[in-house]
Amino acid sequence: PTAPLVLGIESSCDETGFGIVRGTELLANAVASSMEEHVRFGGVIPEIAARAHLEEFVPTLQQALVTAGVTLADLDAIAVTSGPGLAGALMVGVAGAKALSLATGKPLYGINHLVAHVGVGVLDEVLGGEASVVGNNRATLPASLGALLVSGGHTEILRVNRLTSDVELLGSTIDDAAGEAYDKVARLLGAGYPGGPVIDRLAQTGDPTAFRFPRGLSAPKFVGTAEEPGKHRHDWSFSGLKTAVARCVEQFEAAGVPDEEIPTADIAASFQEAVADVITSKAVRACQEHGLDHLLLGGGVAANSRLRGLLAERCAAAGIELTVPPVRLCTDNGAMVAALGAQLMADGVEPSGLDFAADPGQPV
Ligand code: KG4
Ligand code: ZN
Repeated sequence: PTAPLVLGIESSCDETGFGIVRGTELLANAVASSMEEHVRFGGVIPEIAARAHLEEFVPTLQQALVTAGVTLADLDAIAVTSGPGLAGALMVGVAGAKALSLATGKPLYGINHLVAHVGVGVLDEVLGGEASVVGNNRATLPASLGALLVSGGHTEILRVNRLTSDVELLGSTIDDAAGEAYDKVARLLGAGYPGGPVIDRLAQTGDPTAFRFPRGLSAPKFVGTAEEPGKHRHDWSFSGLKTAVARCVEQFEAAGVPDEEIPTADIAASFQEAVADVITSKAVRACQEHGLDHLLLGGGVAANSRLRGLLAERCAAAGIELTVPPVRLCTDNGAMVAALGAQLMADGVEPSGLDFAADPGQPV
């Protein structure tokens, strides 16, 4: 029997994504983004994102079908992100997916967005070495692994015992997401939006040791010991870091330093170093203490040069195999939803039916 043909739909934030897979083979990954409509606000506006999903739903679906060379009638199942994410944005995808399921009679799976970021790891093109930073050459994703998800909306470390049935949250940010911290610091430095790419670029010419910014929740009282873990051993916090950067800029201003002479590249590089340091050290520790010898990186911040570099270095030192999907599969997309849907089908998991609701706060 041939592997199932699955359509995946993603609309949890500002990307409208339709992906089509046959088992672990990626056939199409069409993405429309409303990012540019949010630029002048310096952040994603939920109402604008939801309207953009509505406008892009049919054209992006058509694009995916044409690219894959299939019709809706050929599908074996439909999968859609049901949460977590922005309520209005999720509702567009879920309502559209239910309508497609009802009209075609194809089974429908409601999918957790965070688990879908891990699900992308089963795709043939993610494995096999070329895409992965460490260059592991495995044919399949191991059943048990850690997943580090860093984006504008979330920052989590997951323990995956079995992708389709047993995923556990080990730690997460207690305030801002990592990408959100990038966006806020970029605004502070007057560097533009989205903050990630601009800070990453600015940091290339700066000195990462110029300023020592705080690594949140790294004090012994939060971390504890392996035997007696502190309450936030595997958690992150980025609000103190953001405040420290703001104070740093204010000090230059108070000293009468003209704006153009403030060392923004050094500040950006030092900020980026603090983010990459605390994210990677905590992720590696979580893997070690939970016996996970494989880590998958996902989310838009996976595009960050320093994070990728430092994570590769620290994983190698700890004997942890690392999989880093190509950036277009790390940012929000429909292919990851389709990939997880195909795995659920292959594992004989019952479809969700038409009764489930979009759930903005859906846990893993
Ligand atoms: O996964 P994603 O496309 O959407 C969600 O937020 O779910 O991630 C977007 C985030 C933004 O906050 C953006 O600033 C960040 O990823 N980002 C980066 C880089 N490229 C994008 N952050 C750091 N360095 C980058 N090179
Ligand atoms: Zn995401």
